[in-house]
Amino acid sequence: MNKDIEKILVTEEDLAGITKRLGEQITKDYAGKKLLIVGVLKGSIYFLTDLSRHIDLPCTIDFVQASSYGAGTVSSGEIKITKDISGDLSGFDVLLVEDILDTGRTLKHIHDMLSKRNPESIAVVTLLDKPARREVDIYADYVGVDVPNAFVVGYGLDYNQFYRNLPYIGILKESVYNK
Ligand code: IMP
Ligand code: MG
Repeated sequence: MNKDIEKILVTEEDLAGITKRLGEQITKDYAGKKLLIVGVLKGSIYFLTDLSRHIDLPCTIDFVQASSYGAGTVSSGEIKITKDISGDLSGFDVLLVEDILDTGRTLKHIHDMLSKRNPESIAVVTLLDKPARREVDIYADYVGVDVPNAFVVGYGLDYNQFYRNLPYIGILKESVYNK
């Protein structure tokens, strides 16, 4: 285990089970639809690549990027879109893929923005959910697992851009960010 990790919350085996379960459910729910998978960079990349391998349907994949956190562990609350997808979404069933739903502000912002482009539907799949922290009215249609209110890293999730490549999700030791 990485020396900066307090405790592993979601193991590699858990992650494999979660992506398989959600991918199979999404395959059932989206049969016959025009699926557009939209990942929220950068945190969702590991989840998206594993999840999409279990989605046995024709689909396209694109990405958006938003910034809100800067370099800390607490959201600044202000969301800026730094990478967008192109134009009209008519006919597409959009599946937004997130690493973690925390206050919900980031995803709400992206959801509202894409809703205005006339998609057939928009749904949300998040690997992790911190329901206790929600501040705005947004929920995920598909959730990997609920996590407690702690700062977690790994499998795409970062602290100051580091730790994304850990193959599991773990609680980051407070000594790393309370220096
Ligand atoms: P929200 O706008 O507060 O819901 O924050 C969502 C974004 O903040 C996520 O997409 C993550 O990138 C980041 N985030 C929130 N909680 C954590 C955490 O515990 N570890 C790492 N990143 C987090
Ligand atoms: Mg992030």
